[in-house]
Amino acid sequence: MQFLIEIGDPLRHPCQALLLGCFEDDLADPIFTGIDHALGGCLANLYRQREFTGKQNKTRIIHTLGKMPAERIVLVGLGKKKDLTMERVRQGAGSAIQSMRDTGIKVCTSLLHLLGDDNGYILAAVEGAVLGGYTFNHYKSKRDENDGIEEVRLLFPDATHLVEIEKVVTEARTLCEAVLFVRDLVSQPGNVSTPIYLAEKAMEMSAKLGISCQVMEREEMERLGMESLLAVAKGSRQPPRFIILEYMAAGVTVRPTVLVGKGITFDSGGISLKPREGMEKMKDDMAGGAAVMGTLMATAALKLPVNLVGLVPAAENLPGGAAYKPGDVIKSMSGQTIEIVNTDAEGRMVLCDALHYAQRYKPAVIIDLATLTGACVVALGSFASGMMGNDESLKKAIRSAADKCGERVWELPLWEEYGELMKSDIADMKNAGGPEAGTISAAWFLQKFVGKSRWVHLDIAGTAWMEKDRPYMPKGATGVGVRLLVDYLRGIAKGR
Ligand code: BES
Ligand code: ZN
Ligand code: ZN
Repeated sequence: MQFLIEIGDPLRHPCQALLLGCFEDDLADPIFTGIDHALGGCLANLYRQREFTGKQNKTRIIHTLGKMPAERIVLVGLGKKKDLTMERVRQGAGSAIQSMRDTGIKVCTSLLHLLGDDNGYILAAVEGAVLGGYTFNHYKSKRDENDGIEEVRLLFPDATHLVEIEKVVTEARTLCEAVLFVRDLVSQPGNVSTPIYLAEKAMEMSAKLGISCQVMEREEMERLGMESLLAVAKGSRQPPRFIILEYMAAGVTVRPTVLVGKGITFDSGGISLKPREGMEKMKDDMAGGAAVMGTLMATAALKLPVNLVGLVPAAENLPGGAAYKPGDVIKSMSGQTIEIVNTDAEGRMVLCDALHYAQRYKPAVIIDLATLTGACVVALGSFASGMMGNDESLKKAIRSAADKCGERVWELPLWEEYGELMKSDIADMKNAGGPEAGTISAAWFLQKFVGKSRWVHLDIAGTAWMEKDRPYMPKGATGVGVRLLVDYLRGIAKGR
């Protein structure tokens, strides 16, 4: 999707569609009244008949039939004026773009960013449009003619602050490109997206951006004693990879933020095989790893002055002849032993070695992202990622980044008592607790591998993939994590 900045008057602007944000309770905006007047009171009439009420994310396309140079007006509801936030603008832009999906409209002009003088609305309008207009049509042999908007023009009344506006638009697009990179990776099917493929994509992306990228293969992991990660990989013919990305732009004395992402390219459950219904969705089990790659991509492209490391332990979890089995005892890289009671709890098995490896960087903080537990989907649905961690100020910073960017997180407790669920008779811990508090017991397990580091774990099992369209997250992979982490890193860069 291309963006163009144009100067002009909406009433004199020829285009296929003019995108107009509307409130539920305020019809006095001069652009709104100007268009309404040009259309002979059509908008006011729609409100009067309650055919369109300005309710958040409701849309309506009307034809102007020559009364204005714009061929159509796309009305999008933004709710009450006093409740307007960046998130509402982002959602409004996404809804509007999605409403034009099957209309044949290719180019539209947006007025959504004009609702306030805050640059935040420009950012939100661009984000909503790019993210809402995404489709993954890579494997459709016949591309749909109506695949959606190709170009969005942002109309401004005059040329003031144009340089600044250009900068905001470019930055928003850069960030969104990283989100779409993640969505593409997560959408790829498991027969394409293997640990080797992830590593290749990491190499390709990092070469373009001047990020250092190192990929460890099995032998090196063996040498390091990453037996927990290797145990998961044993059931598959796909060899594992351990991807290490480093972007150091804050000087050698600054401790890095280390991101760790679960990179299970397909999770069949292994010997503890998953039920067949819905198993195909488990191609998204590398969404955490992809988000880590996308965050490095965005951070480098935006040239944020931070030190950032990304670690992605990548493997496929299949029940092959050499697969790890329930009852096995595995010695992790940290030296702690793990009794396997469920081979489907493989995410923590690959993460624990990566979290231990992360210690070598003497990290300022470690943040891991993982589609880790079905229990998190039960607890929070697809509306928030689960957050657990050992440091209040870090959790606070993540929470405030989350509230700002709309990628919500919700904290679950991590009291020591939950460790009782993970006690093993034979090893230091089991790899899975019972049915209770599955999200927390998984986080408790991970905590055993972070040493004294400040750490936050984000369970994105419910947020990495949408079963239904959301305003700026069309059905499918969401790319969750990138915008959240970039906001968090921007905070660090500002020295929060
Ligand atoms: N990848 C799954 C978690 C998952 C489930 C993500 C559903 C998205 C939707 C993970 O590897 C897993 O299978 N976890 C088990 C853990 C259990 C065995 C302790 C689960 O949640 O059932
Ligand atoms: Zn699993
Ligand atoms: Zn998994």
